[in-house]
Amino acid sequence: MQSDSVSITRDSYRVFVDFLKIKLGHELGEGKEYLLENRLNPLCETLNFANINLLANEIKSNPYSPIGNMIVEQMTIQETSFFRAPRVFDNLRKNIIPRLIRENVYSHTIKIWSACCSTGQEPYSIVMMLLEDFPELEHWNISFLATDVSENALAKAKSGMYSRFETIRGLPTPLKEKYFSETADGQYQVDSRLRAKVNFQQVNLLDGFYSLGGPFDIILIRNALIYFAPEVVTGIFQKLRGVIKENGCLILGESESILGKTTMFNLPVGGTDYFSPAPLP
Ligand SMILES: C[S@@+](CC[C@H](N)C(=O)[O-])C[C@H]1O[C@@H](n2cnc3c(N)ncnc32)[C@H](O)[C@@H]1O
Repeated sequence: MQSDSVSITRDSYRVFVDFLKIKLGHELGEGKEYLLENRLNPLCETLNFANINLLANEIKSNPYSPIGNMIVEQMTIQETSFFRAPRVFDNLRKNIIPRLIRENVYSHTIKIWSACCSTGQEPYSIVMMLLEDFPELEHWNISFLATDVSENALAKAKSGMYSRFETIRGLPTPLKEKYFSETADGQYQVDSRLRAKVNFQQVNLLDGFYSLGGPFDIILIRNALIYFAPEVVTGIFQKLRGVIKENGCLILGESESILGKTTMFNLPVGGTDYFSPAPLP
């Protein structure tokens, strides 16, 4: 059914704002009618709702229906790329991993969590970097958890299948040639050796973190917290503090900080780009 070009009402707007807050912890703020309409009108057509206000009525009376999950898929922004923000990878290569190798020499273990990993480019970039630059880790126990709330993003991440365009964005040609193979339909698939190294799981950051197998040496949560309500972000930092090692590193997006949001982590010092856990009281 072609959905009507009916504008979203004030009441429907509130329904979606409340839904996104409860379901994802996101804060939509004011004046984002265009965003809801752009992203949800196609869903109305697919589901045969005549307009977005009828979709709002449905979700209000039945927030935990499968339609709720479809709205989550439409409203999460999955923008990512291989080796996004190369400075982060330089910092991992030059500072963080060498330090962890020194400090974890007896356990021979490094645990990494890429939270909000989207379609998997971030964890695969790190795995490629470890294989390329740290052959001495071959016999270490490296556990790599990568999570996201989006089932669609995780399905793609697990498949390790990327378009030519996605592989052009940030992936150096020698790594593409070494770790990817071209499929019959012109896509590129990450080598099964790499895929086997990452454990992809669906995790909503509103959930508890204790069942995730920490404590972690490195937690990356980049370019995701900007969408969350401030009090939710503070709660997430508190939960992260409970699952990071005392010498661990929390890596946020380039424009993101803990400032004014938590005292559970320290600001980066001495040119490092990561946040370290503050001592517990
Ligand atoms: C913009 S992408 C960032 C991907 C990657 N970290 C990067 O920096 O390239 C944001 C990701 O956060 C995920 N996300 C949003 N809300 C979430 C939540 N409540 N719990 C877990 N993941 C969430 C989205 O599904 C999306 O894949």
